[in-house]
Amino acid sequence: MAEAVVSGVVKTSRETFGTITMANRSNKEKLKHLQSTYGVQMTTDWLKAVQENDIIVFATPPQTHEELLRALSPHISGQLVVTVAAGIDPEFLEDRLPEKTPVCWIMPNTAAQIGMSMSTYTCGRSVESHHRPYIEALLNAIGPAEELTSEQVHNLTAVTGSAPAFIYYVEKALEEAAVKYGISEEQARRLVVQMMKGSVAMLEAGHSPDDLMEQVASPGGSTAEGLRVLDTYGVDRMFQQAVQAANEHARAQGEES
Ligand SMILES: NC(=O)c1ccc[n+]([C@@H]2O[C@H](COP(=O)([O-])OP(=O)(O)OC[C@H]3O[C@@H](n4cnc5c(N)ncnc54)[C@H](OP(=O)(O)O)[C@@H]3O)[C@@H](O)[C@H]2O)c1
Repeated sequence: MAEAVVSGVVKTSRETFGTITMANRSNKEKLKHLQSTYGVQMTTDWLKAVQENDIIVFATPPQTHEELLRALSPHISGQLVVTVAAGIDPEFLEDRLPEKTPVCWIMPNTAAQIGMSMSTYTCGRSVESHHRPYIEALLNAIGPAEELTSEQVHNLTAVTGSAPAFIYYVEKALEEAAVKYGISEEQARRLVVQMMKGSVAMLEAGHSPDDLMEQVASPGGSTAEGLRVLDTYGVDRMFQQAVQAANEHARAQGEES
């Protein structure tokens, strides 16, 4: 995720930021690769870098935050602290950093790698208007974003963050169904991916899912029969349960950190 953010920033808003330093606790090879690919500075001494930078972005697992914030806190004097970790909300950051530290929680998804994340984000109490251009530049680097309350970011983490995996699950199931009719896996991938792209484009054109389903499924027709099977198995409720389970797990991770 750190690489996704930096590669996006370098492409879309390099001029907004001065020096960019990437930190990793020990992997010099990885850092050298990032340095040469994106023209950034590198360090294995992140706390030293903190003192020389105005914005600190955490892209480490949620469970590392307790320890890392404890180490960071004595070095903070007004820097903006951002995390992309699941479950680590502004309240969590503010509770562990000096009073009035501006903080922001961004929840991206894997499409950040290609600048197409649908991110949600929420800012802490001390974020002021002069911090916003930097937050927006970080967000623009990875795709569209929506500012929400902390509670909403928690509750929508599954829909924007985890649901790409649910979509790939559906894609894979359809691919497997297609292969059974004697085409190759490559052909099945092409058919299903293009079908999905077309379906998304119809939604983007402003049609509602209900209208689109009605267009495809004439009463008594073959698509209606397929939808009837999905209804019989309660697939819509299964997705809702999957969203709930992913959210509960993300919250528990944040609380354990
Ligand atoms: N991947 C996604 O699509 C996605 C989406 C939304 C949010 N996120 C969030 O983004 C964060 C990073 O995810 P990722 O997929 O980029 O994970 P990742 O590839 O595993 O990267 C995690 C990074 O954290 C570092 N790290 C791990 N433990 C550490 C510790 N104790 N001290 C210092 N550094 C430590 C790792 O360093 P080493 O290289 O030394 O191991 C690595 O550079 C997570 O919090 C995740 O919740 C990811």
